[in-house]
Amino acid sequence: MKAIVCVDKQWGIGKANRMLFHLPADLKFFKEKTIGKVIVMGGNTLLSFPGSKPLKDRTNIVLTDVYTRDDCVVVPTLEKLKEELRKYPEDEVFVVGGAMFYRTMIDYCSEAFVTKVDDVGGAEVFFPNLDEADNWSLEYESVPVTDNGYTVRFTTYKNNRVRNF
Ligand SMILES: NC(=O)c1ccc[n+]([C@@H]2O[C@H](COP(=O)([O-])OP(=O)(O)OC[C@H]3O[C@@H](n4cnc5c(N)ncnc54)[C@H](OP(=O)(O)O)[C@@H]3O)[C@@H](O)[C@H]2O)c1
Repeated sequence: MKAIVCVDKQWGIGKANRMLFHLPADLKFFKEKTIGKVIVMGGNTLLSFPGSKPLKDRTNIVLTDVYTRDDCVVVPTLEKLKEELRKYPEDEVFVVGGAMFYRTMIDYCSEAFVTKVDDVGGAEVFFPNLDEADNWSLEYESVPVTDNGYTVRFTTYKNNRVRNF
């Protein structure tokens, strides 16, 4: 499976259960990568989506034992998540947040698509700093692009010691 995330200069990803920036080019990138695929998330992230609704044209799987709902797959434990994910090719599964869920899943991800924003968003929650993790290496970095006035780079990191989920 793969992680996909947008971080600021401090690897911050959110505050008040919201994203830090509005970035249309990054949203487009996210959509292109995940459309038709399986997206897996923690309970807060589903609630942070527009209208607290699952993202369309994707299989949405949510880890929470606080609520259930019938518009997406909800699993109450990591064990149940493991069972659920066996139904899908590993390559089609994207870990899409948030902070707690990224921390839980990052070691099981083979790649991470990290959109880097050259700004500080005043985050309350963070993604693990992959530059400081000895098993992750930066494989690709795009030229900088401007997205809603922010300088943004699309990067890909590779996990050199992937654990089996
Ligand atoms: N920048 C980005 O790319 C990006 C992407 C996604 C989200 N975000 C941001 O991230 C923030 C939300 O992150 P968050 O950490 O608060 O929430 P989260 O990871 O979405 O959800 C946390 C909840 O998920 C469940 N969970 C996660 N890991 C678990 C584990 N190991 N075992 C059992 N349950 C687990 C628990 O659910 P229950 O307590 O409900 O049982 C936990 O309370 C928001 O600000 C959001 O906008 C940013």
